[in-house]
Amino acid sequence: MQTPSKLLLENKAWSENIKSKDPEFFLSLAKEQRPETLWIGCADSRVPAETVVNAQPGEIFVHRNIANQVITTDFNCLSVLQYAISVLKVKHVIVCGHYGCGGVQAALQPQKADLVIANKWLLHIKDVYRLHQEELETIDPRKKTDRLIELNIIEQVYRLAHTSIIQSSWKHGHRPSLHGWVYGLQDGLLNELITLDHKTEISPIYRYAE
Ligand code: CO
Repeated sequence: MQTPSKLLLENKAWSENIKSKDPEFFLSLAKEQRPETLWIGCADSRVPAETVVNAQPGEIFVHRNIANQVITTDFNCLSVLQYAISVLKVKHVIVCGHYGCGGVQAALQPQKADLVIANKWLLHIKDVYRLHQEELETIDPRKKTDRLIELNIIEQVYRLAHTSIIQSSWKHGHRPSLHGWVYGLQDGLLNELITLDHKTEISPIYRYAE
């Protein structure tokens, strides 16, 4: 049972364990963070960013939401992105989705009355479906959800590339590289779907002219 009091006890044990191996660990980490990677992932409890890549505190700057979306009017995600690029100067941005994503599965269903807010968030995934409708409606129906999960990840990487934040950083600093990864709940493995970098040609209607 993961009660809050059990979690607090676990936290004490975790902290003690780390300090027993490295007494300076928290003191040096408290001074500053220097992560090289921004991770934009799904809020799903089964895909914890640091755990699946075996990372330590301080190594990954994390933003998670339902179905790992980059909505270009979402100040939460954009603020994280801007801080990561301008202040932390991360070298890589990873959008990580996962097979079996409940958000993408829900987006394939009619809107539910008890989820009026979440429905609006999922409308963006329905748009990804409409963008790739021809492919999604001609493939094996059993593969439809998995393919939409992949296409959704790829679309978020393009949305990142379409922001002024990324294009300006590409122009002036040749970073970050953008990566779309999909995680398998069945095997715990990550697979690469797409990589974009400062050499990527941006379609003229999305280009940011400074
Ligand atoms: Co998910």
